[in-house]
Amino acid sequence: MSLKNKLVLITGCSSGIGLATTKYLISKKCRVIGISRKNVKLLYNKNFKHIKFDLTEFDKYDIITNYLRTKKLKIDFLLNNAGINIPNKFDKIDKNDFEQVLKTNTYAPFFLTQKLINFIKTKGSIVNISSFSAISGGPFSSHYTISKSAIEGLTRNLAIFFGKKKIRVNAISPGLIKTRLAKFPKKHPYFERIILQRAGSPEEIAKVVGYLFSDSASYINGQTINVDGGMFLK
Ligand SMILES: NC(=O)c1ccc[n+]([C@@H]2O[C@H](COP(=O)([O-])OP(=O)(O)OC[C@H]3O[C@@H](n4cnc5c(N)ncnc54)[C@H](OP(=O)(O)O)[C@@H]3O)[C@@H](O)[C@H]2O)c1
Repeated sequence: MSLKNKLVLITGCSSGIGLATTKYLISKKCRVIGISRKNVKLLYNKNFKHIKFDLTEFDKYDIITNYLRTKKLKIDFLLNNAGINIPNKFDKIDKNDFEQVLKTNTYAPFFLTQKLINFIKTKGSIVNISSFSAISGGPFSSHYTISKSAIEGLTRNLAIFFGKKKIRVNAISPGLIKTRLAKFPKKHPYFERIILQRAGSPEEIAKVVGYLFSDSASYINGQTINVDGGMFLK
C-alpha cells in the first residue's frame, strides 16, 4: 500500500486521532498539511506544514485555498477529523453548545470539502471521522450524535458527488479511543459493550485511514467502517 509522495490535508492535527494519523502518514512518506487552532509539536518535520486556523471561521476558508493556490498544490487525500463534544443531557444542552458542536463537527467538513472541490486530485480519497455515537445514541450529547449521523449521510452523498472524478469518499466510525476527547474510556457507560475489553488507540484509527486512502481500498466507496473493538455485537 504505497502512500509515498501523496499530499494529505488533515483537520484536527494537534492531538489524538489527527496527530497519530499525521505521524503515521509521514512515516509512510506522505506530505501533510495539518489544520488546528493550537500549535503542533511536529512542526519541524520537513514533510509537515501547519496552518493555525479555527475551522468554525467559515468566512476565512480562503486562507487555506489561497495557500494551496499560491504553492500550486493539489491534494491527494483529505481527512475531515477535527471534532468536539460538549457532553450534557438532552434537557441541559443550550443553543450555544448545540451550535458549537454542529459548526465544528458538521458544518466545517461540509464547507471545507466544498471549498476544496477543485483542489482534490482525480482518483483522490476523502475520509470523514464519524463516531459510534451515530449508531448508539447514548445517555449524553444528542447534539454530538446528530453531528455524526450527519457526517455519515454526507459521506454517502459526497461519494456520489465526487464519483465523476473517481474520488472515493468513506467514513470511519471509531469506538472509544484514548484521546483528550475520551479521557476516561473505562468510565464510559458503553465500555462494557466492547468485546475486546479495551479502548482503542489513535494509532489503530490512523492505520485504517491510511488503508482507506491507499489503493488497497480501491473498490471501497461511500462506506462507514466501524473501528470499535466490536461494540455492538451483544
Ligand atoms: N476519542 C474517541 O473516543 C472518539 C470516538 C469517536 C469519534 N471520535 C472523533 O474523532 C475525531 C478526533 O477526536 P479525538 O478523539 O482525536 O479528540 P482530540 O484529541 O480532542 O482532537 C480533536 C482535534 O480537533 C481539533 N479541533 C477541534 N475544534 C477545532 C476547530 N474549531 N478548528 C480547528 N481544529 C479543531 C483539535 O485541535 P485544536 O484544539 O488545536 O484546535 C484537535 O486537534 C473527532 O471528530 C471525534 O468526534 C473520537
